[in-house]
Amino acid sequence: MNALEAIRNRFAVALADIAEPDKVDSLLGMIRPAQDDKFGDYQANCAMPLGKQLGRPPRDIATGLVAAVSLDDLCDAVEVAGPGFINLTLKEDWIKSRLTEALSDDALGVQKVEKPRNVVVDFSSPNVAKPMHVGHIRSTVIGDALAKIHRFLGHRVITDNHLGDWGTQFGMIIYGYKHFVDNAAYTADPVVELGRLYKYVRVIMDYHGAVAQLPAAQELLDKQHTALTRVSGEQHEDKAALKKQKKDIARLKEKMVDQQALVEKLQQTIAGAQSDTGLMSAADAHADIAKSVLAETVKLHEGDTENKGLWDKFLPYCLADINRLYDRLNIRFDHVLGESFYHDQLAAVVEDFIQRKIATESDGAICVFLDGYDAPMIIRKQDGAYLYPTTDLATIQYRAEEWQADAMLYVVDHRQHDHFDKLFDAARLWGYKEAELTHVSFGTVLGDDGKPFKTRAGDTVGLEGLLDEAESRALAIAIEQNPELEESRQQEIGRVVGIGALKYADLSQNRSSDYKFSYDKMLALRGNTATYLQYANARVHGIMRNLNVTPASLKAQTGDFIFAEPVERQLSLQLLRFEEVLNDVLVEYKPNLLCNYLFDLAQLFARFFDQCPVRDADSQAQQKSRLQLCALTSGTLTTGLGLLGIESLERI
Ligand code: ARG
Repeated sequence: MNALEAIRNRFAVALADIAEPDKVDSLLGMIRPAQDDKFGDYQANCAMPLGKQLGRPPRDIATGLVAAVSLDDLCDAVEVAGPGFINLTLKEDWIKSRLTEALSDDALGVQKVEKPRNVVVDFSSPNVAKPMHVGHIRSTVIGDALAKIHRFLGHRVITDNHLGDWGTQFGMIIYGYKHFVDNAAYTADPVVELGRLYKYVRVIMDYHGAVAQLPAAQELLDKQHTALTRVSGEQHEDKAALKKQKKDIARLKEKMVDQQALVEKLQQTIAGAQSDTGLMSAADAHADIAKSVLAETVKLHEGDTENKGLWDKFLPYCLADINRLYDRLNIRFDHVLGESFYHDQLAAVVEDFIQRKIATESDGAICVFLDGYDAPMIIRKQDGAYLYPTTDLATIQYRAEEWQADAMLYVVDHRQHDHFDKLFDAARLWGYKEAELTHVSFGTVLGDDGKPFKTRAGDTVGLEGLLDEAESRALAIAIEQNPELEESRQQEIGRVVGIGALKYADLSQNRSSDYKFSYDKMLALRGNTATYLQYANARVHGIMRNLNVTPASLKAQTGDFIFAEPVERQLSLQLLRFEEVLNDVLVEYKPNLLCNYLFDLAQLFARFFDQCPVRDADSQAQQKSRLQLCALTSGTLTTGLGLLGIESLERI
């Protein structure tokens, strides 16, 4: 058990006597690690709100609590400070026994949760047949880390890659295959040819789309321009009117910037296509391409033999393509149940919604009207087609019934937040009230300019190229750091460090925010990067190697811990906080808390190593104690990185 939990358990008993039952949990939440070690190791700040609730001076309450809580075996000093803070300092013996336990335990003393849940993690879930891009990395690495941490803490986890394998993109490649396939290229490399067909159809569709959209876009821009001229020309004396005029001008200008950008983008799309005569003749010959693509998709969904046959033929190639990336990222799923898996169940889902009177017909479409939203959730279109939400409802039913899920976590881009809000409300209306349904959303990956990360040409950045670049840059660093190493080892380091850096750059950000992607930053040897942690970890292994011990040999004959310098106690406490942090990660599904923890640990270790000689320790016993701290540090770094899906190396 971790210190925080132990302290909270003791306080829970005392709080039960004085606080209202429904307040106890939030009061216990106010027991936290101390911000500064002059306030002890942990701090209980619950006397302040309790004072308000009970109408008594917080200091009296704190004193009463300290007298009532039994902490003798756990804490040395328990002090009431200031208006009623309770500062707690752990007993050294308690810390040392926990360290000894951790050293002899593969799980580093981290205990499993008391109430394991069945947790489904829906992550990665790309739309196949389109190349995976930088945006997909976030869902993939955050989801994988959350799954691993849940599992480590004893939950029963089911990971599921909910592939988009049934959407319009298949209509596009089916159409492309029927009209534009290069048979020799397809035979030589189907994935490349299917990718080309997807892009080719996309470009033609975008061209026609742009041609159709441009006049209206240009007209709006002209109108905005006229309005701006008019407003700018107005003469006002009155202060308020002047202020309003200024505001209107600013607003109009802002709108015009966006509109101008849209017009330019459409013009570029058109000009780009027009510069390619081959493409233009195809575009002219396929003026109705958007409609036809939709028709191919509908035919597929209705079970048309030819289209279903093509889908069956293409899908394995699409899967092989994404699996290559998963292999490089070392990511596995328990299930890969894509949208197509649920296709047969959709009609019944809609029927059930109608029967239960939670869906109604509106203009021929079947809609679920939910409180608090402007628009309903459509589950069947007028033309009979089912939609993304319909599939997701079927998926919830399946996960609840087949897997008895207690929680379903959806690691998906924040732009889908409206979809998930509605989906979860609809699912609850439908009767799935028990399971936790959470959209673990995340922000956008930005380029240096603060705009969504794109290549120079304005395309989305492919995931494959990203991995190549990260690996090759990490290899350059490995060669620079260690020119003598044999080439295959350097390659291995480049791979582990490069992929690790990419994953960590993402995981170390608060997932809700956008973040700026930078190869230089993520591969930096200093700062909160995987590279720093990996080099630090290898250094700890090096210390042990130099003294001819291994974590296993230390484990086999644990000795006493000695705290000669304050930093030895600090490092120990940080090591023991591992379990606490892992539990914290799962409160709001934030892997960055684990990253911060590992970074603090590595920094603390550097201070320890600076101040506490290991080879030249004062005594054998002290050397052993310090080596044990080394073993625990490398164990925690390796396990922690592993839970983030990041490999580590004993030698770099
Ligand atoms: N395929 C979707 C996309 O790329 C993400 C799916 C997320 N999972 C889900 N159950 N809706 O946008």
